[in-house]
Amino acid sequence: MADNRIAQPGDTIVIASDHAALDLKTVLVNDLASMGFKVRDLGTNTTDSVDYPDYGHLVGKAVAAHEAKAGVVVCGTGIGISIAANRHPGVRAGVVHDDYTARMAREHNNANVLAMGARVLAPEEARALLKTFFETPFEGGRHARRVEKLG
Ligand code: RB5
Repeated sequence: MADNRIAQPGDTIVIASDHAALDLKTVLVNDLASMGFKVRDLGTNTTDSVDYPDYGHLVGKAVAAHEAKAGVVVCGTGIGISIAANRHPGVRAGVVHDDYTARMAREHNNANVLAMGARVLAPEEARALLKTFFETPFEGGRHARRVEKLG
C-alpha cells in the first residue's frame, strides 16, 4: 500500500517562526530531526520583533520550489504566518489546534505545511500535533478530487 504521509525520513522539512514562536520552533526543530527528517531552519533566530509574513513566505517559497517536501510555520496564533505560506502555488498550509484538526489536515486536505500558534498551544500539545501531522497519511479517494480543485 502506498505511503501517503507527507514526508519520509531523510526528506527535507523547512520550518520558520516569528519572535512570538521562537522557543516553540527550537523544540520542533529537535523533534523533526529526531523523526529522521533533514531540517532547514529559516529563522527567525532571535527574540527581536519581526514580521510574520517574511517567514511564512520563506517556507511557502521553499515548498513551492520543491526544495522541501513539507514545512512547519509557527507564530502567535499560526494564522498570519499560514496566510503568507498559502500565497505560494501548491502550498496547503493548515492551522491546527488539536488532534482532530491535525489529523484532518492530513487525511482530508493533504496539507503540506503545518501551522500552529505558540500563544494558543502549550509546547507539549504542539509537539504531539507535530507528530500526528507527520504520521498521518492522506486518505485520497474523493479527497484527492477536492484537493486537486484547490489549485
Ligand atoms: C505577533 O505579535 C503576532 O501578531 C503574530 O505572532 C501572529 O499571531 C500573527 O498572526
